[in-house]
Amino acid sequence: MSAPVKVSSGNGTGLASTNELRQVTVPDFVAAKARGHRLTMLTAYDYTMARLLDDAGVDSLLVGDSLGMVVQGQPDSLAVTLDEMVYHTRLVARGVRRSLLVADLPFMSYQVSPQQALESAGRIIKEGGAHAVKLEGGARSAAAIAAITAAEIPLMGHIGLTPQSVRRLGGFKVQRDAERLMEDALAVEAAGAFAVVVECVPTELAARITETLKIPTIGIGAGPSCDGQILVTPDLLGLFDDIRPRFVKHYAEMGQAVRKAVESYCREVRDGVFPGPEHSFR
Ligand code: KIV
Repeated sequence: MSAPVKVSSGNGTGLASTNELRQVTVPDFVAAKARGHRLTMLTAYDYTMARLLDDAGVDSLLVGDSLGMVVQGQPDSLAVTLDEMVYHTRLVARGVRRSLLVADLPFMSYQVSPQQALESAGRIIKEGGAHAVKLEGGARSAAAIAAITAAEIPLMGHIGLTPQSVRRLGGFKVQRDAERLMEDALAVEAAGAFAVVVECVPTELAARITETLKIPTIGIGAGPSCDGQILVTPDLLGLFDDIRPRFVKHYAEMGQAVRKAVESYCREVRDGVFPGPEHSFR
């Protein structure tokens, strides 16, 4: 990963503005909550998209194990391996100059023991080049979180709808058990996480968790009161126009745009219009 250029941030938020190259750090991320700066986070899985998103000024990129679905075409994230996460993290790291780079620990790379969790996190940092790791689960993952953070590896938690639990949950459903969710949030914070993703939780409950925790909450399907928001980038870009969960907003219709561009290309090649003289060498 190219070394970030350090300049002082002059926008008063503690996070570098988009025309600065200052690397967003874990302390910046945590301090944003006290400053009332809403954090932005998106998923990335390769160099090209990482460069575009980083250039556009997103505070943090997540190499999510959602790549099982949006890159590999699987029905869920369960089959994603640690080697695959390391590989995609390395691709994304090459495109990052400013964003805080977080990468997921995939299913069964941290559940066996705190030792296994620490070794997996170490690979994501050392081989992948991530700045931090994320794993799923509240109280049940506290020992893994404590082992990883004790080794000075920054860790983001993930509570609410935890997609790696899809088989137990019986689908991707809104999570409404307020007592359990608050317990999970507090357990993740107490174990040493610097932030926590809160997924598919009713707005009022996410707001209560956000008020209670000192660390930032990053919401997805958790309403507007979280300290930041994350979306799966192919969702935001409208790459899949047949899948649109309620919490997703399409900021572009790239699926249609790609189809149109490819149809034009095929038509022009078949009609002998492309390549024209301006694309050819004499
Ligand atoms: O894997 C992922 O993309 C995630 C986000 C949905 C938070 O965990």
